[in-house]
Amino acid sequence: MEIRIFETADETVRAVAQRVARSLREKPDLVLGLPAGRTPVGAYAELGRLHAAGEADFSLASSFNLDEFAGIERTHPGSFHRFMMEHFFDGVNIPAGHIHSLNGAAQDLDAECERYEDELVSVGGVGLQLLGIGPNGHIGFNEPGDALVARTHRVTLLEATRRDNAALFFDDPAQVPREALSMGMGTILKADAVVMIATGVGKAACVERMVRGPITTQLPASFLQTHRRVEVYVDLAAGSRL
Ligand code: GLP
Repeated sequence: MEIRIFETADETVRAVAQRVARSLREKPDLVLGLPAGRTPVGAYAELGRLHAAGEADFSLASSFNLDEFAGIERTHPGSFHRFMMEHFFDGVNIPAGHIHSLNGAAQDLDAECERYEDELVSVGGVGLQLLGIGPNGHIGFNEPGDALVARTHRVTLLEATRRDNAALFFDDPAQVPREALSMGMGTILKADAVVMIATGVGKAACVERMVRGPITTQLPASFLQTHRRVEVYVDLAAGSRL
């Protein structure tokens, strides 16, 4: 793992945006894998600015959202699809048809996961996967447990994760869906390159465990150690235990 430590959260996410813009210049038809969450928001805003300044052209790029809550429409205020539209896609020029997301309101959620995995395979997989990390070490919604699932799948969310995501559901954890859909660990690890972003002291412990191991299903992010091209972008606070 290549660790990059920046003084502030702001510098961290701006560096991530520069990293994405660089990849895009090298490979205009880049396939991005993108997380929702508070952490990458500044990177998305900066990419919007780079796009407006003519330094990031997404016209040939495509994207796959990492995860989604089950049982809600894409228009629901808590939907990660909606979150990504508001925080990223509305500000750049990725063609609408190149934006892929899981439909949490699908009738058959298992079939929806299959569809998504097949769609990803049909474009040749993710080129650059951005990731955040949950305080319990989850990536996407791959929660800690006795086993991990390789492919895109349905997940039962842990209570802590539902609490962490309450902000999107009127600050009421009870309104956070009990289930979600997520790219699997295998899906994530198949990406050509992974950029993990973590900021704030609340992430320091899970970042330390992710980087130093041991590799365990109890901390899904630790499996990133097995990937050949992972860059970890942290601020001083999140990197304080490294
Ligand atoms: C959420 C999402 C992840 C996200 C993580 C961290 O539960 N499923 O994709 O990366 O938790 O979120 P945040 O960046 O808001 O701390």
